[in-house]
Amino acid sequence: MIKFNQISRSFIGDEVETVAIDQMNLTINEGEFLSILGPSGCCKSTLLNVLGMLDSIDSGEFSFLENPVDKYSEQQRARLRKQHIGFIFQNFNLIDELTVEQNIELPLYYHNVAKAERKRLVDAVLKRVDISHRRKHLPAKLSGGQQQRVAIARAIVTNPDLILADEPTGNLDSKNSTQVMELLQQLNQEGATIVMVTHAPEHIIYGTRVIELLDGKVVNDQLVKEKLNDKTSQIVDAGSTEVVNTIKAVAEVTCG
Ligand SMILES: Nc1ncnc2c1ncn2[C@@H]1O[C@H](COP(=O)(O)OP(=O)(O)OP(=O)(O)O)[C@@H](O)[C@H]1O
Ligand SMILES: [Mg+2]
Repeated sequence: MIKFNQISRSFIGDEVETVAIDQMNLTINEGEFLSILGPSGCCKSTLLNVLGMLDSIDSGEFSFLENPVDKYSEQQRARLRKQHIGFIFQNFNLIDELTVEQNIELPLYYHNVAKAERKRLVDAVLKRVDISHRRKHLPAKLSGGQQQRVAIARAIVTNPDLILADEPTGNLDSKNSTQVMELLQQLNQEGATIVMVTHAPEHIIYGTRVIELLDGKVVNDQLVKEKLNDKTSQIVDAGSTEVVNTIKAVAEVTCG
């Protein structure tokens, strides 16, 4: 689905140039659920923004569903993004003045979906993320977990092929985090490709593959073992800190 060949992205400041992505090679296949780990500043968000075509690159080849994105204009990239990609941001990025249902409906306007169909899709996705009872609320009246569920609903209402999530559980407690991770896993099992940045190694078990970044490069790339996935997802539900720590240790060794 995605192919990076020697991709670089730098930021030029007043005096210094920061190399964020450094000649990166990366292939992401359709159907994968890829977790991205790495220390602060290693380029996780930059990578996600480039993948989502919100940010451009300086050099290299970037192909998305066989489209040569590096050769595309901003307008062509925007069209691809609209057709295929849903974003989940760490800080939710909901529009304060719109209600829950209006926030979720917004991408459907941009897709020129007719009114009755918009209502049908919004109703279905509200139910799916279990937030129907708050549909008339403004985001400020919701808890963090509820806001994140609305943000996810907005990202998935157009049924995107690729879901990009930047620390989707970064602001959530463990119960809400588990709910969000299970939802992402379901979406993946239904066919969406998912790329998720996370600071929580215990969450990589919901995915199929994990990469680790350091200084703008991929330094580790491994599949998450099926067996580990089955075993640990049961234990995670049990929820004691001791077992969660054990999972972290196992996951670190087994999955890098
Ligand atoms: N718009 C920008 N202007 C200048 N420098 C930037 C910009 N965006 C990112 N950078 C720099 O690029 C590097 C990578 O940043 P990025 O936000 O991708 O890191 P990150 O891995 O997401 O970090 P965190 O875990 O803290 O979110 C950092 O050194 C950062 O300072
Ligand atoms: Mg970041």
